[in-house]
Amino acid sequence: MTPTFLRRGALALVTMSALASTSAMAADVNIYSSRQPALIQPLLDAFTKETGLTTATIFIEKGLEERVKAEGANSPADVILTVDIGRLDAAKQAGILQPLSDEIVERDIPATFRDKEKDWFGVTARARVVYASTDRVGADGITYESLADPKWKGKICIRSGQHQYNVALVAAFLAHHGEEKTKTWLTGLRDNLATAPEGGDRDQARNIASGQCDIAIGNTYYVGLMQTNEKEPEQKEWAKAIKVVMPTFEGGGTHVNISGMGLAKNAPNRDNAVKLMEFLTTDEAQRIYSEINYEYPLKPGVETSAVVKAFGELKPDTLSLDEIAANRAKASALIDEVRFDEGPKS
Ligand SMILES: [Fe+2]
Repeated sequence: MTPTFLRRGALALVTMSALASTSAMAADVNIYSSRQPALIQPLLDAFTKETGLTTATIFIEKGLEERVKAEGANSPADVILTVDIGRLDAAKQAGILQPLSDEIVERDIPATFRDKEKDWFGVTARARVVYASTDRVGADGITYESLADPKWKGKICIRSGQHQYNVALVAAFLAHHGEEKTKTWLTGLRDNLATAPEGGDRDQARNIASGQCDIAIGNTYYVGLMQTNEKEPEQKEWAKAIKVVMPTFEGGGTHVNISGMGLAKNAPNRDNAVKLMEFLTTDEAQRIYSEINYEYPLKPGVETSAVVKAFGELKPDTLSLDEIAANRAKASALIDEVRFDEGPKS
């Protein structure tokens, strides 16, 4: 894959090979991002306006860790932006981040949403919720545990169990309930599926609209993206067919995951990198970033967008993302063990 290289200030959009781009990054802060350029550019523009510092972004959808590792001490990367605790933890484990002790970032981002060893920090959050048919499902509270209840037999749709969003959810279940209960739950959930897992979160809303299932598990921001999708208006119809129900763990809250950032191990522009990371936790940046992709700002007190507020009140689970990260490998193994992706067995 050829990454897209965006140099701000010069407003040049150049596509080049992975190696050629390394020497070409000459901005005040260099960003390696697995987030789509359209999602972060308004934020970077605001940063440049505020500080006068230019930014350059390389969009790397896959293989970000390998790339930075291969570049080693000569890596131009200053700040890493990515999504999901799985990817943030992978960056940490690959050794491409360095810890940052920073009063501003640590004051603004609650401890549950940042790495204890200070390698990564959450910036925005998304909840993994239930999409429920507006016509066929009542509005009552649903727990994650109750998704294995046989009353949902043949009625649930979900994407692959091995997708990082589901691995994190199962890892959270494991942290709450331990291995035996998790295995029983996963088996029950598998047998409640309408069909073998397929597609992305939005496809599950489509399946509810078409009547294939009554409930699905998906991330909150996709609902906002479907509701406002002018390019593919059929997605607005999928969104109309569902409502967001905030499930909780018994005795806990709703599972959330994050988009996040980390200071690159060999950041050549360390001071500027820290300025960008501090900027990302300001009220202004939190508002811009969360509004673009219908996510939740992580800084307490920053207003959530109207679209996201309409999903209902979110009470995030109190489990720390560190704990979830530590349970990912076991979660993934259990998902395979029950052959989740093969769909219902009984
Ligand atoms: Fe996503």
